[in-house]
Amino acid sequence: MHPSIQPQRAIRELPDELISQIAAGEVVERPASVVRELVDNALDAGATHITVRLLSGGVRLISVEDNGAGIPADELPIALKRHATSKITNLNELESVGTMGFRGEALAAIHSVSELSLLSRTALQDHAMRLDGRSGELQAAARALGTTVEVKELFYSTPARRKFLKTDATELAHCVEAVRRHALSRPQVGFEIWHDGKLVEQWRSQTGNEELDRRLADVLGADFLKNSVAVQFTQGNLHVFGRAGIPDAARARADHQFLYVNGRFVRDKVVTHAARSAYEDVLHGHRQPVYALYLDMDPTRVDVNVHPTKIELRFRDGREVHQAVHRAVESALAIPRANAAMVQDAGADNANAAASAWRVPAWQQAPMALQGQNVQDLGQIWQKSEGFSTSATDSGEKFHDSPEVHGENQGFTKIGASADASNTAAHQDLNESWPLGKALAQLQGVYILAENKQGLVLVDMHAAHERIVYEQLKLQIDAHQLSSQPLLIPATFPATEQEIATAQASEQVLIDLGIEISLLTAKTLAVRAVPITLSKGDPVALARSVLAELQQHDASTVLQRAQNELLATMACHGAVRANRKLTVEEMNALLRQMEITPRSDQCNHGRPTWRQISLRELDALFMRGR
Ligand SMILES: Nc1ncnc2c1ncn2[C@@H]1O[C@H](COP(=O)(O)OP(=O)(O)OP(=O)(O)O)[C@@H](O)[C@H]1O
Ligand SMILES: [Mg+2]
Repeated sequence: MHPSIQPQRAIRELPDELISQIAAGEVVERPASVVRELVDNALDAGATHITVRLLSGGVRLISVEDNGAGIPADELPIALKRHATSKITNLNELESVGTMGFRGEALAAIHSVSELSLLSRTALQDHAMRLDGRSGELQAAARALGTTVEVKELFYSTPARRKFLKTDATELAHCVEAVRRHALSRPQVGFEIWHDGKLVEQWRSQTGNEELDRRLADVLGADFLKNSVAVQFTQGNLHVFGRAGIPDAARARADHQFLYVNGRFVRDKVVTHAARSAYEDVLHGHRQPVYALYLDMDPTRVDVNVHPTKIELRFRDGREVHQAVHRAVESALAIPRANAAMVQDAGADNANAAASAWRVPAWQQAPMALQGQNVQDLGQIWQKSEGFSTSATDSGEKFHDSPEVHGENQGFTKIGASADASNTAAHQDLNESWPLGKALAQLQGVYILAENKQGLVLVDMHAAHERIVYEQLKLQIDAHQLSSQPLLIPATFPATEQEIATAQASEQVLIDLGIEISLLTAKTLAVRAVPITLSKGDPVALARSVLAELQQHDASTVLQRAQNELLATMACHGAVRANRKLTVEEMNALLRQMEITPRSDQCNHGRPTWRQISLRELDALFMRGR
């Protein structure tokens, strides 16, 4: 017997006024609905092991065995009555219900469309009792502690409904899915599913720190774990946890989105929208993220009694939930993956601890650090606030200082040359712990090749740098620190009438973006200042593409609505171009910046900025046995 199992309260018929409060409707649609209800009951009874046996997709037989608290013999007949439950007795309890069941309807509904029997034994009985639902006969039987519910010949009396059932294989798939949903929220409970005498799924009970991760890997596959990041977020009494798939793992359909509220699998528009919106900046088009998200909250803040199958619910405060889920997922995704993996490798208890340990001193504090600082120090502060490595700081700044439009590599070369000897030594010592490794070479002016512990790292240099610049611009604009640098010699260009009109109409917006453009002659515009972060880029190209973008918007609201698009356009002009030769120091500086920049795993268009090719994959390429 499991120590946590408590004897249940007696099963009682609910008072009429409470019955009228309960969302009523069809609960048995197909075998999978029966499976879901019976597993719900087993879980409510405190079971730690649940076995589901099916014959012919569940149509001929569904049997659910558990090792829970059992049902006392004299209550077996009551369990089959409508509106009889041991889980609630009054409206108060309905409003704060913590069990899966509360209507006292499931067994009655199943009983009315099948041949049902209950076999059960509680801790106080020396043998089990079996109730035949059809005849009402009660007999002594053999069984250990717990309950077995057998449901035979589903819809035998309603052939019209039986006709709607699909093939056995389809019904089986739905039944497995029903158990899978339970399994994902109850890692401590072991599950087995048998079909026509064969074991089809088995998920062993998990314990310990990483029980949820292990269950997720068991049920959804090791790839899900590998391609997702830990979510861990608390706001008041609302706790959001689980895992969110990286943008790369997104799918065409929303079929890998598992959402639980207080342990119950649900579909909910508020949470789905909040989660999707957290991917806005990293996942483009109509791709659907994958995730398993769990919300734990005060049960009185959510109404589970809105839908007969309890698949929908209503939050008291949808805004609060939306905000918490959005922030939970967004902050989890912001951590560069290489970095999270590294901290995990270093032996942190779990990814959550690793994530938060990394997160707090880094970018979340950066905006605060920026407040009130002299604008000239911006680049430096951004770097320093990360506290990741001072050598990255130094070379990172230099990376930004490098001229890019003047056609020569002077700036970059200078960086390499000026990196002082102690810094270079630090580079050598530290490279073991650098998640993105040590730069080796540049390929075709497009990719950086680097070596880390796992093997080879390939980086799309322009895409990665573009993201870094973009994140810096976002941070600066949010902190009202997007400052501009006047150009010594204004850059002039012959402008179209459209461009001139836009420049004049959007003057304030441009200033907010750190760009100053004024009319020089009737047909010439002069760029007088650009954001410091972009000061080495081509000011004319920057001005032209920002003007082109502004043309499509109404000047008065553009900054609220299209801010990120505008910043992305600008970032492109600040990023190192393809075919630019980089020194090894410059490449390392870029890698170090990627490691400390939120969301640097994706470029601004949602494509990956880097890939890992493991030694194992390389060995496989060369058919080299290890
Ligand atoms: N596997 C089980 N182990 C112990 N008790 C059970 C089990 N299954 C059912 N019961 C008892 O039978 C009662 C009726 O079950 P039923 O599923 O019909 O209603 P419910 O779970 O209370 O509410 P709901 O209709 O919302 O599921 C339960 O309240 C519980 O006391
Ligand atoms: Mg139930």
